[in-house]
Amino acid sequence: MQVLTTRDELRALPLCGRRVLVPTMGALHDGHLALMRAGREAAGPDGCVMVSIFVNPIQFDRPGDLAAYPRTLDNDLANCRELGVDVVFAPDVGSMYFPDRSITVTETLLSAGLCGATRPGHFDGVCTVVLKLFLLTSCDAAIFGEKDFQQLAVIRRMVRDLDVPVEIIGHPTIREADGLAMSSRNVRLAPEHRADAPRIHRALVSAAALDTPSAILAAARADIEASPFARIDYLELVDAETLQTAADLTRPNILATAVFYGDVRLIDHVDLPSN
Ligand code: PAF
Repeated sequence: MQVLTTRDELRALPLCGRRVLVPTMGALHDGHLALMRAGREAAGPDGCVMVSIFVNPIQFDRPGDLAAYPRTLDNDLANCRELGVDVVFAPDVGSMYFPDRSITVTETLLSAGLCGATRPGHFDGVCTVVLKLFLLTSCDAAIFGEKDFQQLAVIRRMVRDLDVPVEIIGHPTIREADGLAMSSRNVRLAPEHRADAPRIHRALVSAAALDTPSAILAAARADIEASPFARIDYLELVDAETLQTAADLTRPNILATAVFYGDVRLIDHVDLPSN
Protein backbone atom coordinates (compact mmCIF):
# COMPACT_ATOMS: atom_id res chain seq x y z
CA MET A 1 0.00 0.00 0.00
CA GLN A 2 1.32 3.45 -0.89
CA VAL A 3 0.68 6.40 1.40
CA LEU A 4 0.89 9.71 -0.45
CA THR A 5 0.60 13.20 0.98
CA THR A 6 1.07 15.62 -1.92
CA ARG A 7 -0.49 16.33 -5.31
CA ASP A 8 2.91 15.76 -6.99
CA GLU A 9 3.11 12.24 -5.58
CA LEU A 10 -0.41 11.55 -6.84
CA ARG A 11 0.43 12.85 -10.30
CA ALA A 12 3.45 10.54 -10.47
CA LEU A 13 1.32 7.50 -9.60
CA PRO A 14 1.44 4.98 -12.45
CA LEU A 15 -1.98 4.45 -14.04
CA CYS A 16 -3.67 1.26 -12.89
CA GLY A 17 -6.98 -0.19 -14.15
CA ARG A 18 -10.25 1.22 -12.85
CA ARG A 19 -9.55 3.64 -10.00
CA VAL A 20 -12.15 3.71 -7.26
CA LEU A 21 -11.92 6.39 -4.60
CA VAL A 22 -13.35 6.20 -1.08
CA PRO A 23 -13.22 9.78 0.25
CA THR A 24 -13.09 9.94 4.06
CA MET A 25 -12.13 12.26 6.88
CA GLY A 26 -10.46 9.37 8.72
CA ALA A 27 -11.42 8.01 12.15
CA LEU A 28 -12.42 4.98 10.12
CA HIS A 29 -15.16 2.73 11.51
CA ASP A 30 -16.95 -0.36 10.20
CA GLY A 31 -19.09 1.83 7.94
CA HIS A 32 -15.96 3.06 6.14
CA LEU A 33 -14.58 -0.46 5.98
CA ALA A 34 -17.78 -1.52 4.19
CA LEU A 35 -17.19 1.29 1.66
CA MET A 36 -13.65 0.04 1.10
CA ARG A 37 -14.83 -3.54 0.52
CA ALA A 38 -17.38 -2.19 -1.97
CA GLY A 39 -14.53 -0.19 -3.53
CA ARG A 40 -12.51 -3.37 -4.01
CA GLU A 41 -15.45 -5.00 -5.74
CA ALA A 42 -16.11 -1.97 -7.94
CA ALA A 43 -12.42 -1.69 -8.91
CA GLY A 44 -12.17 -5.34 -9.96
CA PRO A 45 -9.05 -7.51 -9.75
CA ASP A 46 -6.92 -5.22 -11.96
CA GLY A 47 -8.23 -1.99 -10.54
CA CYS A 48 -7.00 0.20 -7.75
CA VAL A 49 -8.75 1.21 -4.51
CA MET A 50 -7.78 4.64 -3.26
CA VAL A 51 -8.80 6.06 0.11
CA SER A 52 -8.44 9.74 0.93
CA ILE A 53 -8.09 10.75 4.56
CA PHE A 54 -8.46 14.48 5.01
CA VAL A 55 -10.31 16.41 7.70
CA ASN A 56 -11.52 19.15 5.40
CA PRO A 57 -11.54 22.42 7.38
CA ILE A 58 -13.70 24.32 4.90
CA GLN A 59 -16.74 22.10 5.45
CA PHE A 60 -16.93 22.71 9.21
CA ASP A 61 -19.25 25.46 10.38
CA ARG A 62 -18.19 25.25 14.04
CA PRO A 63 -14.48 25.62 14.92
CA GLY A 64 -15.01 23.45 18.01
CA ASP A 65 -16.33 20.60 15.87
CA LEU A 66 -13.27 20.78 13.61
CA ALA A 67 -10.88 20.84 16.56
CA ALA A 68 -12.62 17.91 18.25
CA TYR A 69 -12.97 15.79 15.11
CA PRO A 70 -11.24 12.47 15.94
CA ARG A 71 -7.89 11.91 14.20
CA THR A 72 -6.58 8.34 14.24
CA LEU A 73 -4.22 8.13 11.26
CA ASP A 74 -2.06 5.18 12.39
CA ASN A 75 -5.11 3.07 13.10
CA ASP A 76 -6.72 4.18 9.82
CA LEU A 77 -3.65 3.17 7.83
CA ALA A 78 -3.59 -0.24 9.55
CA ASN A 79 -7.25 -0.76 8.60
CA CYS A 80 -6.62 0.26 5.00
CA ARG A 81 -3.64 -2.10 4.79
CA GLU A 82 -5.67 -4.98 6.18
CA LEU A 83 -8.43 -4.40 3.64
CA GLY A 84 -6.05 -4.41 0.67
CA VAL A 85 -6.36 -0.72 -0.18
CA ASP A 86 -3.78 0.18 -2.86
CA VAL A 87 -3.27 3.89 -2.25
CA VAL A 88 -4.02 6.20 0.68
CA PHE A 89 -3.94 9.93 0.04
CA ALA A 90 -3.54 11.76 3.37
CA PRO A 91 -2.57 15.37 2.66
CA ASP A 92 -2.20 18.12 5.23
CA VAL A 93 -4.23 21.31 4.85
CA GLY A 94 -1.31 23.18 3.27
CA SER A 95 -0.98 20.60 0.50
CA MET A 96 -4.68 20.79 -0.34
CA TYR A 97 -5.43 24.51 -0.22
CA PHE A 98 -3.41 27.47 -1.41
CA PRO A 99 -3.42 30.23 1.24
CA ASP A 100 -5.03 32.63 -1.26
CA ARG A 101 -7.50 30.14 -2.78
CA SER A 102 -10.48 31.98 -4.23
CA ILE A 103 -12.63 29.34 -5.98
CA THR A 104 -15.48 27.47 -4.28
CA VAL A 105 -17.97 25.04 -5.79
CA THR A 106 -21.53 25.91 -4.77
CA GLU A 107 -24.69 23.86 -5.28
CA THR A 108 -27.72 26.07 -4.81
CA LEU A 109 -30.83 23.90 -4.67
CA LEU A 110 -30.44 20.52 -2.98
CA SER A 111 -28.07 21.95 -0.40
CA ALA A 112 -30.34 24.78 0.72
CA GLY A 113 -32.34 22.90 3.38
CA LEU A 114 -31.64 20.26 6.05
CA CYS A 115 -27.91 20.23 6.96
CA GLY A 116 -27.28 23.07 4.49
CA ALA A 117 -29.66 25.36 6.39
CA THR A 118 -28.19 24.69 9.82
CA ARG A 119 -24.55 24.39 8.69
CA PRO A 120 -23.92 27.40 6.42
CA GLY A 121 -21.17 26.79 3.88
CA HIS A 122 -20.94 23.08 4.68
CA PHE A 123 -21.85 21.79 1.22
CA ASP A 124 -19.67 24.39 -0.52
CA GLY A 125 -16.78 22.89 1.43
CA VAL A 126 -17.84 19.35 0.59
CA CYS A 127 -18.29 20.04 -3.15
CA THR A 128 -15.00 21.90 -3.37
CA VAL A 129 -12.95 19.21 -1.67
CA VAL A 130 -14.69 16.32 -3.44
CA LEU A 131 -14.15 17.87 -6.86
CA LYS A 132 -10.49 18.47 -5.98
CA LEU A 133 -10.11 14.87 -4.81
CA PHE A 134 -11.70 13.60 -8.04
CA LEU A 135 -9.29 15.69 -10.12
CA LEU A 136 -6.23 14.88 -8.03
CA THR A 137 -6.81 11.12 -8.03
CA SER A 138 -8.21 10.85 -11.60
CA CYS A 139 -10.66 8.32 -10.20
CA ASP A 140 -13.21 6.57 -12.40
CA ALA A 141 -15.69 5.98 -9.58
CA ALA A 142 -16.21 7.08 -5.98
CA ILE A 143 -18.17 5.53 -3.12
CA PHE A 144 -20.16 7.49 -0.52
CA GLY A 145 -22.30 6.30 2.38
CA GLU A 146 -26.05 6.81 2.05
CA LYS A 147 -26.22 7.95 5.69
CA ASP A 148 -25.21 11.37 4.35
CA PHE A 149 -28.02 11.25 1.78
CA GLN A 150 -28.03 15.02 1.23
CA GLN A 151 -24.28 14.99 0.61
CA LEU A 152 -24.74 12.12 -1.84
CA ALA A 153 -27.54 13.97 -3.68
CA VAL A 154 -25.47 17.17 -3.87
CA ILE A 155 -22.41 15.31 -5.19
CA ARG A 156 -24.49 13.48 -7.80
CA ARG A 157 -25.87 16.87 -8.89
CA MET A 158 -22.38 18.40 -9.06
CA VAL A 159 -21.14 15.51 -11.20
CA ARG A 160 -24.17 15.78 -13.48
CA ASP A 161 -24.15 19.57 -13.85
CA LEU A 162 -20.38 19.93 -14.30
CA ASP A 163 -19.95 16.81 -16.50
CA VAL A 164 -17.44 15.30 -14.09
CA PRO A 165 -16.53 11.87 -15.51
CA VAL A 166 -16.78 9.99 -12.21
CA GLU A 167 -19.37 7.31 -11.44
CA ILE A 168 -20.95 7.94 -8.02
CA ILE A 169 -21.80 4.80 -6.06
CA GLY A 170 -23.98 4.99 -2.91
CA HIS A 171 -23.56 2.43 -0.14
CA PRO A 172 -26.30 1.58 2.42
CA THR A 173 -25.94 2.97 5.95
CA ILE A 174 -24.11 0.65 8.35
CA ARG A 175 -25.56 0.56 11.87
CA GLU A 176 -24.43 -0.56 15.30
CA ALA A 177 -26.30 -3.57 16.72
CA ASP A 178 -28.64 -1.19 18.61
CA GLY A 179 -29.53 0.73 15.43
CA LEU A 180 -27.34 3.83 15.86
CA ALA A 181 -25.94 4.84 12.46
CA MET A 182 -22.16 4.49 12.44
CA SER A 183 -20.35 7.82 12.47
CA SER A 184 -16.87 9.00 13.35
CA ARG A 185 -18.56 11.35 15.83
CA ASN A 186 -20.06 8.47 17.89
CA VAL A 187 -16.80 8.05 19.84
CA ARG A 188 -17.24 11.59 21.18
CA LEU A 189 -20.61 10.80 22.80
CA ALA A 190 -20.69 10.72 26.61
CA PRO A 191 -21.66 7.20 27.82
CA GLU A 192 -25.20 8.26 28.79
CA HIS A 193 -25.64 9.98 25.42
CA ARG A 194 -24.34 6.94 23.55
CA ALA A 195 -26.85 4.75 25.44
CA ASP A 196 -29.71 7.13 24.54
CA ALA A 197 -28.82 7.84 20.89
CA PRO A 198 -30.38 4.70 19.31
CA ARG A 199 -33.73 6.37 20.06
CA ILE A 200 -33.15 8.52 16.96
CA HIS A 201 -33.41 5.60 14.56
CA ARG A 202 -36.24 3.98 16.56
CA ALA A 203 -38.20 7.24 16.48
CA LEU A 204 -37.78 7.65 12.72
CA VAL A 205 -38.71 4.04 11.95
CA SER A 206 -41.85 4.01 14.07
CA ALA A 207 -43.04 7.46 12.88
CA ALA A 208 -42.51 6.44 9.24
CA ALA A 209 -45.33 3.90 9.58
CA LEU A 210 -47.94 6.67 10.17
CA ASP A 211 -50.08 7.98 7.35
CA THR A 212 -49.82 11.78 7.18
CA PRO A 213 -46.79 14.10 7.12
CA SER A 214 -47.98 15.94 10.23
CA ALA A 215 -48.54 12.72 12.21
CA ILE A 216 -45.12 11.42 11.14
CA LEU A 217 -43.31 14.60 12.17
CA ALA A 218 -45.18 14.96 15.47
CA ALA A 219 -44.54 11.35 16.50
CA ALA A 220 -40.83 11.45 15.63
CA ARG A 221 -40.41 14.77 17.45
CA ALA A 222 -42.20 13.50 20.55
CA ASP A 223 -40.06 10.34 20.69
CA ILE A 224 -36.77 12.21 20.29
CA GLU A 225 -37.76 14.99 22.68
CA ALA A 226 -38.71 12.41 25.32
CA SER A 227 -34.94 12.08 25.81
CA PRO A 228 -33.46 14.15 28.65
CA PHE A 229 -30.33 14.69 26.50
CA ALA A 230 -31.31 15.03 22.82
CA ARG A 231 -31.83 18.44 21.20
CA ILE A 232 -33.28 18.45 17.68
CA ASP A 233 -31.38 20.61 15.18
CA TYR A 234 -33.89 19.80 12.44
CA LEU A 235 -36.53 17.17 11.76
CA GLU A 236 -38.04 17.21 8.29
CA LEU A 237 -39.98 15.17 5.81
CA VAL A 238 -38.66 15.88 2.32
CA ASP A 239 -39.21 14.65 -1.21
CA ALA A 240 -36.53 12.03 -1.93
CA GLU A 241 -35.64 13.58 -5.27
CA THR A 242 -35.91 17.33 -4.78
CA LEU A 243 -35.18 17.40 -1.02
CA GLN A 244 -37.93 20.04 -0.72
CA THR A 245 -40.59 19.79 2.03
CA ALA A 246 -42.96 16.91 1.27
CA ALA A 247 -46.58 17.97 0.82
CA ASP A 248 -48.04 14.46 0.97
CA LEU A 249 -47.02 10.80 0.87
CA THR A 250 -47.74 10.14 -2.80
CA ARG A 251 -44.06 10.29 -3.79
CA PRO A 252 -40.99 8.67 -2.18
CA ASN A 253 -39.97 10.81 0.79
CA ILE A 254 -37.20 10.91 3.37
CA LEU A 255 -37.72 11.53 7.08
CA ALA A 256 -34.47 13.14 8.19
CA THR A 257 -33.12 14.56 11.39
CA ALA A 258 -30.03 16.04 12.98
CA VAL A 259 -29.84 15.78 16.76
CA PHE A 260 -27.36 17.25 19.21
CA TYR A 261 -26.12 15.31 22.22
CA GLY A 262 -24.07 17.95 24.02
CA ASP A 263 -21.95 19.38 21.22
CA VAL A 264 -21.99 16.18 19.17
CA ARG A 265 -24.34 16.40 16.22
CA LEU A 266 -25.71 13.14 14.80
CA ILE A 267 -27.72 12.74 11.59
CA ASP A 268 -30.01 9.93 10.49
CA HIS A 269 -32.90 9.33 8.12
CA VAL A 270 -35.33 6.70 6.88
CA ASP A 271 -36.75 6.29 3.39
CA LEU A 272 -40.53 6.30 2.97
CA PRO A 273 -41.68 4.63 -0.22
CA SER A 274 -44.70 6.32 -1.88
CA ASN A 275 -48.18 5.29 -0.70
O1 PAF B 1 -18.46 12.29 4.23
C1 PAF B 1 -17.31 12.69 4.51
O2 PAF B 1 -16.57 12.04 5.25
C2 PAF B 1 -16.82 14.02 3.94
O3 PAF B 1 -17.87 14.93 3.83
C3 PAF B 1 -16.09 13.84 2.59
C4 PAF B 1 -17.02 13.30 1.52
C5 PAF B 1 -14.91 12.91 2.76
C6 PAF B 1 -15.57 15.21 2.12
O4 PAF B 1 -14.69 15.76 3.03
